[in-house]
Amino acid sequence: MKKEPSLNIHTRDKFRQLIVQKTGLEIREQNLGSFDNIIINRTRKLRFDEPENYFIFLSLHCHDSQKEWEELVLELTNNESYFFRDQGQFKLLEEHILPELIKRKKITKSLRICSAGYSTGPEPYSLAILLKELIPDIQTWNLLILGVDINHEVLEVARKGVYSPWSFRRVAPEIKEKYFTKKGEQYQINNDIKKLLKFEVCNLVENEQNSKKSDFLDIDLIVCRNVFIYFSQKTIKKILNIFYNKLQPSGYLLTGHAEIISQNSGLIKFKKKLFAQSLIYQKPKLDEVIKTTTLLANQKSLYPVNQVVKNTKKSGLDVIPKPSKNISKRNINLLEVKPKNKEISSPEIDHLKEIEDIKMLLQKRSYNLVTQKLINILDKFPNDLNYLYFLAETYANIGKYEQAIKHCNHALDVDNLSFKFYYLLVDVYQEKKEDELTKRILDKIIYLNANSVYGYFKLGNFYQDRGNAKKAKKMYHNTLKILDTLPNNQQIAELNDLSVEELSIKLSNLVN
Ligand SMILES: C[S@@+](CC[C@H](N)C(=O)[O-])C[C@H]1O[C@@H](n2cnc3c(N)ncnc32)[C@H](O)[C@@H]1O
Repeated sequence: MKKEPSLNIHTRDKFRQLIVQKTGLEIREQNLGSFDNIIINRTRKLRFDEPENYFIFLSLHCHDSQKEWEELVLELTNNESYFFRDQGQFKLLEEHILPELIKRKKITKSLRICSAGYSTGPEPYSLAILLKELIPDIQTWNLLILGVDINHEVLEVARKGVYSPWSFRRVAPEIKEKYFTKKGEQYQINNDIKKLLKFEVCNLVENEQNSKKSDFLDIDLIVCRNVFIYFSQKTIKKILNIFYNKLQPSGYLLTGHAEIISQNSGLIKFKKKLFAQSLIYQKPKLDEVIKTTTLLANQKSLYPVNQVVKNTKKSGLDVIPKPSKNISKRNINLLEVKPKNKEISSPEIDHLKEIEDIKMLLQKRSYNLVTQKLINILDKFPNDLNYLYFLAETYANIGKYEQAIKHCNHALDVDNLSFKFYYLLVDVYQEKKEDELTKRILDKIIYLNANSVYGYFKLGNFYQDRGNAKKAKKMYHNTLKILDTLPNNQQIAELNDLSVEELSIKLSNLVN
């Protein structure tokens, strides 16, 4: 009688290593039982006597073994997906990220979005529906919504676009009505949405090499959710690097909550933006990309390797509140987070949790609690710019201006180029009607950054309010000169996200 194949621990480990290497998929301890069954079933199916021979077959670089990899991957991955999965993140896309991208791209009318690990298609179709809702003249846009997935079987399912009622468990009936046609018990996506999509079979782990024949490049937004959960930290880091290269400057990456939170070095080049619904990662603007690349290249040549690694650990969170005209009405719901450069941080996961707690307390206006919490944290991390900013801003909000000033000054001792503290000081001194000090800070801003739109514009306002029209005009002229060098659709975060175009029009009226 023929012996049944069995898998010993040593061979199982060899399979696990080969699979990580080839696909990035990490077989976790809790899944070992089902993993053993998969390997034994495939060994039987291909009529090998034992898993060792199946292993040798998989290690070959021939067409047949490639085909077998596709089958094995089907067994190892899960294709669970449905429309508008995670309503919070889709809200974030609908209300902030997509409108920002649409605004940014309104001149070229070209937008490239990728759903990485799209499974059977609900995720990219949901993105297409959002875009259709948000862009009235969508037919005049050059849109690409690309789905990429390692699983070749899902391609046909996604292309057909026919789904069971269960896939719509998070979909408003009117959206289902508007974009789908009932076919028996199933629903088919309408053609006007379908034609916005393209699908590709692609292994994210190997995608760097495949990029020539792929549309997966120059992407404005990558959505990759419920995919990283399968990967080892090393593979996640590799994929993040691939994603970074696939993104356009200022492009976004949205992952499932907390899926890559323990990544430090893989995320160093990304900015982090924390919204009420989710954290999202952003590739920096073009000039910052150039700066960072040059900086990293210089670091590599100037310092020993361990020092560079040490530097990469400094990627903490720098929290920039949405600016507002009035300190007491500062917006605390929406926080942008970008990598900071001067702090050595505790693990990110702690920061994020602390920031979430602080945000919640601020929303509830529990100022005493939040102040106490921040004082305690700052006891441990006295030079952490994030917490210093929160505390200074909270003091400003409750009218404890001297405390706010003290913490701003301390932060500026730590990093005298952390401009948000100057902006806060300007607000505080204005509130205190300290003209001399307000002006001193504004002068310092333009001394440190001769191209500061904020600095010249605010100085213009300062003189204007004090009846010195001649000096005000000069400052506004200087502001206009700087604005001339910037793209029209660029937003100026420290001036309530006013666009360059809007501010230029406003100033042209003032100076003429
Ligand atoms: C659970 S589904 C997620 C579907 C969708 N993103 C969502 O959140 O609803 C995971 C998908 O990741 C794909 N995947 C796993 N490893 C991959 C790899 N190395 N390259 C590309 N796709 C991969 C799987 O084939 C599967 O379709």
